[in-house]
Order: sequence, then C-alpha cells, then structure tokens
Amino acid sequence: MSTTEDTPDVIAVLRDDHRHVEELFQKVQDHARFRDRRKELVDQVTIELVRHMVAEEEYVHPIVRDAADGRGTVDRAVAANAAAEALMKQLEPLAPTDEVFDRVFIKLMAATHCHVADDEAQLFPRLAAACLPTELRELGEKVYADKSIRPTRPHRPAPATSSDDPLVGRVPHLIDRVRDALAGNH
Ligand SMILES: [Fe+2]
Repeated sequence: MSTTEDTPDVIAVLRDDHRHVEELFQKVQDHARFRDRRKELVDQVTIELVRHMVAEEEYVHPIVRDAADGRGTVDRAVAANAAAEALMKQLEPLAPTDEVFDRVFIKLMAATHCHVADDEAQLFPRLAAACLPTELRELGEKVYADKSIRPTRPHRPAPATSSDDPLVGRVPHLIDRVRDALAGNH
C-alpha cells in the first residue's frame, strides 16, 4: 500500500475520532431542551464510538498486545470498551425524557473520557513505539480504506454524512446492528 507524507497516520485518525466524539457529547449537552435532536445525537455517538472501538480492536490492539508492556494496556482497553458498550445498550431504548437517561448518559460520557485519556496516555505511545512512521501511515490508510469503519467526518473527502448513513436511525439494538455490520466486512 502506498502512502505519502500527507497520509494521516493512524494515531492522528484515532485522535480525530476522539475529538469528534467529544464534540458530539457536547452537542448532546447543548441540546438539553431539544429532546428529538438529543436522541438523534446520542444514536450518532453510539455509531461513532462503536466504529472507533472496532477500528482500534482491528488495527491497534493486536500490535500493542505484542509490544513490550502492551498486554495489560490492551486488556484494560478491551474491558473499558465492553463497559462503554453496556452503557450504550442501557441508553439505547431510553427516551431523553426518561429520568434515567441523563444518569446513564453521564456515565457513558465519563467512560468515554477515561477511554480517551487511557488511549492517549498509554495505548497510542505504545503503538508509536512499536511502529515505524510509514507503518503508522499505512494503518491510517487501512482505516480509511475500510468502508465499514472509516470515520464519517470530513477529514478527507467525506465518505458519508449522518443524513445518508444507513446505520443512523436503525434502533433498537443499534450497537448489535453496527457490530454485526462491521463483523460482516472482516
Ligand atoms: Fe480510542
């Protein structure tokens, strides 16, 4: 696979995912009074988070698991992803008017904050130490080439928007549908 100096490396791609999800969380908070829009945004958070976690599981965890001191980092990341998915499943059937919605949403936001902090302090430095810069760019290219998990934001020519994303609005069982759709492509 050919890459150039302009090809974003996988760490840049995944950091952009983190910033994008943080922006979506902020939008959910900003739309506290707009219940319908809030639900749509939470579904988008779920899709983006699952895509991001699958990209890390597929392309990052195997490398870091084999790196020095990497196994514990990956084990913690896998456990954290499972906890976040459990919260997303709790959130999925809830309406924004439901009294437990905000409680579960805040837990998911906190779990995501921990995911981001752990990735950026532990996982990404270990990945960077285990790979050459060209290998990191090749991984970044692979994430973009993988139609099922590539980011929907316009980091480069946009592959899709939330309005034409076939995964948006397919609730209930959104997480399982996303996971199944991604598994079918690997
Ligand atoms: Fe991450």
